[in-house]
Amino acid sequence: MNILLCGEFDAAELAAWQQCLRAALPEARWLDRGAALAQADAVEVAVVANPPPGSLRGLPRLRLIQSLWAGVERLLRDPTLPAGVPIARMVDPAMTAAMAETALWATLALQRDFFDYALDQRERRWQQRPQRRADSLRVLVLGLGEMGLAAARRLVQLGFQVSGWSLHPRAAAALPAGIGHRHGAAALPGLLAQSDIVINLLPLTPATEGLLDATFFAALPRGAGVVNLARGAHVVDADLLAALDRGQVGRAVLDVFHQEPLPPEHPYWQHPRVTLLPHVAAQTDPHSAAQVVAANVRALAAGAPLAHLVPVGRGY
Ligand code: NAP
Ligand code: GLV
Repeated sequence: MNILLCGEFDAAELAAWQQCLRAALPEARWLDRGAALAQADAVEVAVVANPPPGSLRGLPRLRLIQSLWAGVERLLRDPTLPAGVPIARMVDPAMTAAMAETALWATLALQRDFFDYALDQRERRWQQRPQRRADSLRVLVLGLGEMGLAAARRLVQLGFQVSGWSLHPRAAAALPAGIGHRHGAAALPGLLAQSDIVINLLPLTPATEGLLDATFFAALPRGAGVVNLARGAHVVDADLLAALDRGQVGRAVLDVFHQEPLPPEHPYWQHPRVTLLPHVAAQTDPHSAAQVVAANVRALAAGAPLAHLVPVGRGY
Protein backbone atom coordinates (compact mmCIF):
# COMPACT_ATOMS: atom_id res chain seq x y z
CA MET A 1 0.00 0.00 0.00
CA ASN A 2 1.36 3.44 -0.96
CA ILE A 3 0.50 6.02 1.66
CA LEU A 4 0.84 9.79 1.60
CA LEU A 5 1.37 11.46 4.99
CA CYS A 6 0.60 15.15 4.98
CA GLY A 7 -0.65 17.88 7.26
CA GLU A 8 0.19 20.65 9.65
CA PHE A 9 3.20 19.21 11.49
CA ASP A 10 6.32 20.81 12.87
CA ALA A 11 9.54 18.87 12.31
CA ALA A 12 9.42 17.04 15.67
CA GLU A 13 5.77 16.05 15.21
CA LEU A 14 6.44 14.82 11.70
CA ALA A 15 9.35 12.70 12.90
CA ALA A 16 7.22 11.19 15.70
CA TRP A 17 4.37 10.37 13.33
CA GLN A 18 6.71 8.87 10.73
CA GLN A 19 8.33 6.67 13.35
CA CYS A 20 5.05 5.43 14.85
CA LEU A 21 3.28 4.93 11.53
CA ARG A 22 6.20 3.07 9.98
CA ALA A 23 6.42 0.83 13.04
CA ALA A 24 2.68 0.12 12.94
CA LEU A 25 2.60 -0.52 9.17
CA PRO A 26 6.04 -1.77 8.14
CA GLU A 27 4.62 -3.28 4.94
CA ALA A 28 3.48 0.14 3.62
CA ARG A 29 5.44 2.51 1.40
CA TRP A 30 5.26 6.00 2.91
CA LEU A 31 5.42 9.06 0.66
CA ASP A 32 5.69 12.67 1.72
CA ARG A 33 3.98 15.43 -0.25
CA GLY A 34 7.04 15.97 -2.48
CA ALA A 35 7.35 12.29 -3.38
CA ALA A 36 3.59 12.00 -3.85
CA LEU A 37 3.57 14.87 -6.35
CA ALA A 38 6.11 12.98 -8.42
CA GLN A 39 4.19 9.69 -8.06
CA ALA A 40 0.58 10.85 -7.90
CA ASP A 41 -0.60 7.64 -9.59
CA ALA A 42 0.82 5.54 -6.76
CA VAL A 43 -0.99 7.05 -3.75
CA GLU A 44 -3.79 4.79 -2.44
CA VAL A 45 -4.22 6.13 1.09
CA ALA A 46 -3.75 9.65 2.47
CA VAL A 47 -3.09 9.94 6.20
CA VAL A 48 -3.74 13.57 7.00
CA ALA A 49 -3.69 16.10 9.82
CA ASN A 50 -5.58 19.18 8.67
CA PRO A 51 -3.74 19.31 5.34
CA PRO A 52 -3.73 22.63 3.47
CA PRO A 53 -6.64 22.82 0.99
CA GLY A 54 -5.69 21.23 -2.32
CA SER A 55 -3.30 18.70 -0.79
CA LEU A 56 -5.36 15.73 -1.97
CA ARG A 57 -6.04 16.94 -5.48
CA GLY A 58 -4.78 14.90 -8.45
CA LEU A 59 -4.42 11.49 -6.78
CA PRO A 60 -6.35 9.23 -9.17
CA ARG A 61 -5.90 5.96 -7.22
CA LEU A 62 -6.79 7.38 -3.79
CA ARG A 63 -9.09 4.92 -1.92
CA LEU A 64 -9.06 6.21 1.66
CA ILE A 65 -8.49 9.50 3.47
CA GLN A 66 -7.61 8.72 7.09
CA SER A 67 -7.62 11.74 9.38
CA LEU A 68 -5.33 11.93 12.40
CA TRP A 69 -7.79 14.43 13.87
CA ALA A 70 -11.15 13.58 15.40
CA GLY A 71 -12.74 16.76 14.07
CA VAL A 72 -12.76 16.80 10.27
CA GLU A 73 -14.50 20.11 9.57
CA ARG A 74 -11.48 21.69 7.89
CA LEU A 75 -10.99 18.65 5.69
CA LEU A 76 -14.66 18.59 4.69
CA ARG A 77 -14.55 22.28 3.74
CA ASP A 78 -11.78 21.73 1.18
CA PRO A 79 -13.55 22.23 -2.16
CA THR A 80 -10.84 20.23 -3.93
CA LEU A 81 -11.40 17.11 -1.84
CA PRO A 82 -11.70 14.16 -4.26
CA ALA A 83 -15.35 13.12 -4.53
CA GLY A 84 -16.34 9.61 -3.53
CA VAL A 85 -13.22 8.75 -1.52
CA PRO A 86 -14.18 7.54 1.97
CA ILE A 87 -12.98 9.69 4.88
CA ALA A 88 -12.25 8.13 8.28
CA ARG A 89 -12.02 10.24 11.47
CA MET A 90 -9.54 9.49 14.21
CA VAL A 91 -11.30 7.60 16.97
CA ASP A 92 -8.64 6.46 19.38
CA PRO A 93 -9.31 5.16 22.89
CA ALA A 94 -6.28 7.06 24.25
CA MET A 95 -7.62 10.34 22.88
CA THR A 96 -11.12 9.65 24.14
CA ALA A 97 -9.75 8.88 27.62
CA ALA A 98 -7.75 12.13 27.58
CA MET A 99 -10.88 14.10 26.69
CA ALA A 100 -12.85 12.50 29.51
CA GLU A 101 -10.01 13.43 31.91
CA THR A 102 -10.13 17.06 30.80
CA ALA A 103 -13.91 17.17 31.20
CA LEU A 104 -13.58 15.67 34.70
CA TRP A 105 -10.86 18.14 35.68
CA ALA A 106 -12.91 21.13 34.53
CA THR A 107 -16.10 19.89 36.19
CA LEU A 108 -14.42 19.07 39.50
CA ALA A 109 -12.59 22.39 39.57
CA LEU A 110 -15.86 24.25 38.89
CA GLN A 111 -17.76 22.21 41.49
CA ARG A 112 -15.15 22.80 44.20
CA ASP A 113 -14.19 26.38 43.18
CA PHE A 114 -10.57 25.34 42.64
CA PHE A 115 -10.14 27.91 39.85
CA ASP A 116 -11.20 30.64 42.29
CA TYR A 117 -8.85 29.33 44.99
CA ALA A 118 -5.98 29.50 42.47
CA LEU A 119 -6.85 33.16 41.89
CA ASP A 120 -7.05 33.75 45.66
CA GLN A 121 -3.56 32.30 46.06
CA ARG A 122 -2.11 34.76 43.54
CA GLU A 123 -3.67 37.57 45.57
CA ARG A 124 -2.73 36.12 49.02
CA ARG A 125 -6.42 35.93 49.93
CA TRP A 126 -7.54 33.33 52.52
CA GLN A 127 -11.20 32.73 51.75
CA GLN A 128 -13.21 29.57 52.33
CA ARG A 129 -16.25 28.96 50.14
CA PRO A 130 -19.21 26.64 50.77
CA GLN A 131 -18.44 23.12 49.55
CA ARG A 132 -20.86 21.77 46.91
CA ARG A 133 -21.62 18.07 46.54
CA ALA A 134 -21.21 16.44 43.13
CA ASP A 135 -24.74 15.06 43.28
CA SER A 136 -26.12 18.57 43.71
CA LEU A 137 -24.74 19.69 40.34
CA ARG A 138 -26.38 19.22 36.95
CA VAL A 139 -23.92 18.77 34.08
CA LEU A 140 -25.02 18.93 30.45
CA VAL A 141 -22.78 17.42 27.78
CA LEU A 142 -23.44 18.81 24.31
CA GLY A 143 -22.68 16.02 21.83
CA LEU A 144 -22.93 12.44 23.00
CA GLY A 145 -20.49 10.95 20.49
CA GLU A 146 -17.15 9.28 21.17
CA MET A 147 -15.89 12.10 23.38
CA GLY A 148 -19.13 13.30 24.95
CA LEU A 149 -20.29 9.84 25.94
CA ALA A 150 -16.94 8.97 27.53
CA ALA A 151 -17.01 12.22 29.52
CA ALA A 152 -20.65 11.69 30.56
CA ARG A 153 -19.92 8.15 31.70
CA ARG A 154 -17.06 9.27 33.96
CA LEU A 155 -19.09 12.16 35.38
CA VAL A 156 -21.93 9.82 36.33
CA GLN A 157 -19.39 7.62 38.12
CA LEU A 158 -18.40 10.64 40.22
CA GLY A 159 -22.01 11.24 41.21
CA PHE A 160 -22.92 14.28 39.08
CA GLN A 161 -26.41 14.58 37.60
CA VAL A 162 -25.59 14.17 33.89
CA SER A 163 -27.61 14.87 30.75
CA GLY A 164 -26.51 14.68 27.14
CA TRP A 165 -27.73 16.37 24.00
CA SER A 166 -27.33 15.04 20.48
CA LEU A 167 -28.80 15.41 17.02
CA HIS A 168 -30.63 12.11 16.68
CA PRO A 169 -32.92 10.20 19.04
CA ARG A 170 -31.39 7.34 20.96
CA ALA A 171 -33.01 4.48 22.83
CA ALA A 172 -32.57 4.83 26.61
CA ALA A 173 -31.23 1.26 26.65
CA ALA A 174 -28.41 2.37 24.33
CA LEU A 175 -27.04 4.75 26.99
CA PRO A 176 -25.23 3.91 30.23
CA ALA A 177 -27.47 4.13 33.31
CA GLY A 178 -27.76 7.57 34.84
CA ILE A 179 -27.31 9.66 31.69
CA GLY A 180 -30.41 11.62 30.70
CA HIS A 181 -30.74 12.31 26.99
CA ARG A 182 -32.58 14.72 24.71
CA HIS A 183 -32.04 15.44 21.05
CA GLY A 184 -32.66 18.20 18.54
CA ALA A 185 -32.64 21.98 18.64
CA ALA A 186 -36.06 22.31 20.31
CA ALA A 187 -34.84 20.44 23.41
CA LEU A 188 -31.83 22.66 24.04
CA PRO A 189 -33.33 25.68 25.89
CA GLY A 190 -35.05 23.40 28.43
CA LEU A 191 -31.83 21.48 29.04
CA LEU A 192 -29.78 24.66 29.44
CA ALA A 193 -32.23 26.03 32.01
CA GLN A 194 -31.47 23.00 34.19
CA SER A 195 -27.67 22.93 33.87
CA ASP A 196 -25.09 24.23 36.33
CA ILE A 197 -22.21 23.25 34.03
CA VAL A 198 -22.28 22.81 30.24
CA ILE A 199 -19.51 20.95 28.44
CA ASN A 200 -19.34 21.40 24.67
CA LEU A 201 -18.21 18.35 22.73
CA LEU A 202 -20.06 18.97 19.48
CA PRO A 203 -18.47 18.75 16.05
CA LEU A 204 -18.21 22.01 14.12
CA THR A 205 -20.92 22.05 11.45
CA PRO A 206 -23.12 24.77 9.95
CA ALA A 207 -25.74 23.86 12.59
CA THR A 208 -23.38 24.13 15.56
CA GLU A 209 -21.19 27.08 14.53
CA GLY A 210 -21.92 30.03 16.84
CA LEU A 211 -24.36 27.95 18.92
CA LEU A 212 -22.90 29.27 22.19
CA ASP A 213 -24.23 32.81 21.75
CA ALA A 214 -26.13 35.38 23.81
CA THR A 215 -29.39 33.38 23.61
CA PHE A 216 -27.61 30.23 24.74
CA PHE A 217 -25.93 31.93 27.72
CA ALA A 218 -29.17 33.69 28.72
CA ALA A 219 -30.93 30.30 28.89
CA LEU A 220 -28.53 29.04 31.59
CA PRO A 221 -29.10 29.54 35.33
CA ARG A 222 -27.16 32.60 36.53
CA GLY A 223 -23.54 31.77 37.37
CA ALA A 224 -23.35 28.54 35.32
CA GLY A 225 -19.97 27.20 34.19
CA VAL A 226 -19.23 26.84 30.46
CA VAL A 227 -16.57 24.43 29.25
CA ASN A 228 -15.62 24.43 25.56
CA LEU A 229 -13.43 21.52 24.53
CA ALA A 230 -14.63 21.22 20.93
CA ARG A 231 -13.98 24.13 18.55
CA GLY A 232 -13.54 27.88 19.05
CA ALA A 233 -16.08 28.72 16.36
CA HIS A 234 -18.85 27.18 18.47
CA VAL A 235 -18.63 30.27 20.68
CA VAL A 236 -19.52 33.88 19.91
CA ASP A 237 -16.67 35.41 21.90
CA ALA A 238 -18.25 38.85 22.40
CA ASP A 239 -21.41 37.20 23.78
CA LEU A 240 -19.43 35.00 26.16
CA LEU A 241 -17.38 37.95 27.43
CA ALA A 242 -20.56 39.97 27.98
CA ALA A 243 -22.20 37.04 29.82
CA LEU A 244 -19.08 36.64 32.01
CA ASP A 245 -18.96 40.34 32.79
CA ARG A 246 -22.64 40.33 33.81
CA GLY A 247 -22.12 37.22 35.99
CA GLN A 248 -24.61 35.28 33.85
CA VAL A 249 -21.77 32.84 33.14
CA GLY A 250 -19.74 32.29 36.31
CA ARG A 251 -16.62 30.90 34.66
CA ALA A 252 -15.55 29.68 31.24
CA VAL A 253 -12.98 26.94 30.69
CA LEU A 254 -11.77 27.19 27.10
CA ASP A 255 -9.43 24.88 25.21
CA VAL A 256 -10.19 25.98 21.65
CA PHE A 257 -10.40 29.35 19.92
CA HIS A 258 -11.38 31.03 16.68
CA GLN A 259 -7.74 31.82 16.07
CA GLU A 260 -5.02 29.49 17.40
CA PRO A 261 -2.63 30.31 18.93
CA LEU A 262 -4.91 32.76 20.76
CA PRO A 263 -3.57 36.25 19.92
CA PRO A 264 -1.75 37.91 22.87
CA GLU A 265 -4.16 40.87 22.88
CA HIS A 266 -7.28 38.69 23.22
CA PRO A 267 -9.36 39.62 26.31
CA TYR A 268 -9.64 35.94 27.34
CA TRP A 269 -5.98 35.90 28.44
CA GLN A 270 -6.47 38.35 31.29
CA HIS A 271 -10.08 37.68 32.18
CA PRO A 272 -10.28 36.65 35.87
CA ARG A 273 -13.10 34.21 35.20
CA VAL A 274 -11.66 32.51 32.13
CA THR A 275 -9.38 29.48 32.41
CA LEU A 276 -7.45 28.70 29.23
CA LEU A 277 -5.76 25.66 27.75
CA PRO A 278 -3.81 25.73 24.45
CA HIS A 279 -5.92 23.13 22.55
CA VAL A 280 -4.68 20.18 24.58
CA ALA A 281 -7.94 18.72 25.91
CA ALA A 282 -7.25 15.54 23.94
CA GLN A 283 -4.16 15.37 21.81
CA THR A 284 -3.72 12.59 19.29
CA ASP A 285 -1.28 10.06 20.70
CA PRO A 286 0.95 8.94 17.79
CA HIS A 287 1.54 5.48 19.28
CA SER A 288 -2.10 4.52 19.73
CA ALA A 289 -3.36 6.48 16.72
CA ALA A 290 -0.84 4.69 14.47
CA GLN A 291 -2.48 1.40 15.47
CA VAL A 292 -5.89 2.82 14.50
CA VAL A 293 -4.48 3.87 11.12
CA ALA A 294 -2.86 0.48 10.61
CA ALA A 295 -6.11 -1.37 11.33
CA ASN A 296 -7.99 0.70 8.74
CA VAL A 297 -5.29 0.41 6.09
CA ARG A 298 -5.19 -3.36 6.56
CA ALA A 299 -9.00 -3.50 6.38
CA LEU A 300 -8.81 -1.61 3.09
CA ALA A 301 -6.20 -4.01 1.74
CA ALA A 302 -8.34 -6.99 2.77
CA GLY A 303 -11.57 -5.53 1.39
CA ALA A 304 -13.03 -5.54 4.92
CA PRO A 305 -15.31 -2.78 6.32
CA LEU A 306 -13.52 0.44 7.27
CA ALA A 307 -13.91 1.93 10.75
CA HIS A 308 -15.02 5.43 11.78
CA LEU A 309 -16.11 6.59 8.34
CA VAL A 310 -17.72 10.03 8.08
CA PRO A 311 -21.14 9.37 6.56
CA VAL A 312 -21.50 11.12 3.21
CA GLY A 313 -23.42 14.37 3.61
CA ARG A 314 -23.60 14.26 7.43
CA GLY A 315 -20.78 16.73 7.93
CA TYR A 316 -19.17 15.20 11.03
P1 NAP B 1 -18.70 12.41 17.27
O1 NAP B 1 -18.43 11.01 17.77
O2 NAP B 1 -18.97 12.59 15.81
O3 NAP B 1 -19.95 12.95 18.11
C1 NAP B 1 -20.60 14.12 17.79
C2 NAP B 1 -21.84 14.25 18.66
O4 NAP B 1 -22.41 15.54 18.41
C3 NAP B 1 -22.92 13.22 18.34
O5 NAP B 1 -23.55 12.79 19.52
C4 NAP B 1 -23.89 14.00 17.47
O6 NAP B 1 -25.23 13.57 17.54
C5 NAP B 1 -23.79 15.38 18.08
N1 NAP B 1 -24.23 16.42 17.16
C6 NAP B 1 -23.77 16.70 15.92
N2 NAP B 1 -24.43 17.73 15.38
C7 NAP B 1 -25.36 18.11 16.31
C8 NAP B 1 -26.36 19.10 16.34
N3 NAP B 1 -26.58 19.93 15.29
N4 NAP B 1 -27.13 19.20 17.44
C9 NAP B 1 -26.97 18.36 18.49
N5 NAP B 1 -26.02 17.38 18.52
C10 NAP B 1 -25.23 17.27 17.44
O7 NAP B 1 -17.52 13.37 17.63
P2 NAP B 1 -16.41 13.19 18.79
O8 NAP B 1 -15.37 12.22 18.37
O9 NAP B 1 -17.11 12.97 20.08
O10 NAP B 1 -15.71 14.63 18.77
C11 NAP B 1 -16.45 15.80 19.01
C12 NAP B 1 -15.60 17.00 18.69
O11 NAP B 1 -14.59 17.18 19.68
C13 NAP B 1 -14.77 16.92 17.38
O12 NAP B 1 -15.55 17.18 16.24
C14 NAP B 1 -13.72 17.97 17.61
O13 NAP B 1 -14.19 19.20 17.14
C15 NAP B 1 -13.59 18.03 19.13
N6 NAP B 1 -12.28 17.56 19.60
C16 NAP B 1 -11.53 18.42 20.32
C17 NAP B 1 -10.30 18.03 20.81
C18 NAP B 1 -9.48 18.94 21.66
O14 NAP B 1 -8.34 18.60 22.00
N7 NAP B 1 -10.00 20.06 22.07
C19 NAP B 1 -9.85 16.72 20.56
C20 NAP B 1 -10.64 15.87 19.82
C21 NAP B 1 -11.87 16.29 19.35
P3 NAP B 1 -25.68 12.10 17.05
O15 NAP B 1 -25.14 11.15 18.13
O16 NAP B 1 -27.15 12.17 17.06
O17 NAP B 1 -25.06 11.88 15.71
C1 GLV C 1 -8.46 17.84 17.85
O1 GLV C 1 -8.94 18.89 18.11
C2 GLV C 1 -9.05 16.85 16.99
O2 GLV C 1 -10.09 17.12 16.38
O3 GLV C 1 -8.47 15.74 16.89
